Amino acid sequence: MTLVNIHDFRDLARRRLPKIFFDYIDGGSFEEETMRANRADFAGFELRQNVLVEPRPQDLSTTFLGARHPLPFMLGPVGFLGLYSGKGEAKAVRAAHAAGIPFCLSTFSIASLADLRAVTKGPLHFQLYALEDRSLCEEFLQAAEHAGVDTLFVTVDTAITGIRERDVRNGFRSLTRVTPGLFARLAMKPRWLADVALAGMPSVRAIEHRPEFGRGALEQAANLSRGIDKTLSWKDIVWLRERWTGKLVIKGVLSAEDAVKARDIGCDGVVISNHGGRQLDGASSTIRALPGIREAVGSDFCLMLDGGIRRGSDVIKAVGLGADGVMLGRAYAYGLSAAGQEGVSEIIAILAREISISLALMGVASIDELKSLGTEAVRPR
Ligand SMILES: Cc1cc2nc3c(=O)[nH]c(=O)nc-3n(C[C@H](O)[C@H](O)[C@H](O)COP(=O)(O)O)c2cc1C
Repeated sequence: MTLVNIHDFRDLARRRLPKIFFDYIDGGSFEEETMRANRADFAGFELRQNVLVEPRPQDLSTTFLGARHPLPFMLGPVGFLGLYSGKGEAKAVRAAHAAGIPFCLSTFSIASLADLRAVTKGPLHFQLYALEDRSLCEEFLQAAEHAGVDTLFVTVDTAITGIRERDVRNGFRSLTRVTPGLFARLAMKPRWLADVALAGMPSVRAIEHRPEFGRGALEQAANLSRGIDKTLSWKDIVWLRERWTGKLVIKGVLSAEDAVKARDIGCDGVVISNHGGRQLDGASSTIRALPGIREAVGSDFCLMLDGGIRRGSDVIKAVGLGADGVMLGRAYAYGLSAAGQEGVSEIIAILAREISISLALMGVASIDELKSLGTEAVRPR
């Protein structure tokens, strides 16, 4: 099978992964309306085509989160990478760092920050779910400090989990251990099983020393998600801002009002995100929310965007409409599930190639030039 684009990697991931995990990655909440809107609404914007422009050297590098990066995107937090491919988190961070782009480790990971620090010297970011158990939260913050985490992403759109009906049907949400029935379903994908089994019994390493969370990744994850703080409010963000001395970014903002609050509290940026359409179904797509948020926060505040990024032109549209950088979710989870570290590298290379070709055809030499052209280069259709 020739893998030409990210959709092809999705198809291959569907064949390689047990259905229960593919559906967990691929699905959204309820009617999956917001998940589809994240993709569909990119088509509501068009790129300006400028021809016969004097050729200039192309430069895809740009600045986001206070640092220069060779590409305008990074790998965002995706839970349980180590269940889609053995040592999945290490594979993803290696692929990211080989391309010079940042990687953000999810709270819900098989590998811990210390595990990743052992495989890379590059910059690490960590995504925190605030937990009711503040002592565990504090442990996570200390582990992040110890691993030299640069940016803490606090995810705020998941106090209550949206119902992902594919997961309910597959019994994913009630899984706490591998029953004989589940094992039979997993064994239908022997290649996946061998790969994950070789990495050892999956366990959430960051909480292994806490017996109250149970044993094995499934039980630990179920208990961890029950422990997410449902009462999180701006007061807690103010506290975190005082506690965390590195960069602090709020992930899951979709309104101008919330972005302005985050800025005024002293956060370093926000991720415009609806959790890939996995939470509030019926919420706006992220690309539609972006222009109003950029207008409200001004030009200096860092805005990242995720949701539905599958094409280089999606990245260009997001950057042209005011995002400093873009974060990948499912795109690289498909790559990892389909082909491990190489798959993630290939996803990054495909997006870079598509961005490069589209920019050239737009007559735009660099991502920074695209940023300064803004809505001259990307406008509503
Ligand atoms: C399988 C899966 C697991 C995810 N786990 C997390 C997580 O642990 N923490 C988090 O902040 N966001 C998580 N997200 C949301 C992503 O960071 C991101 O917001 C979303 O995937 C972007 O949409 P896209 O997948 O269409 O690109 C997850 C998304 C998926 C698909």
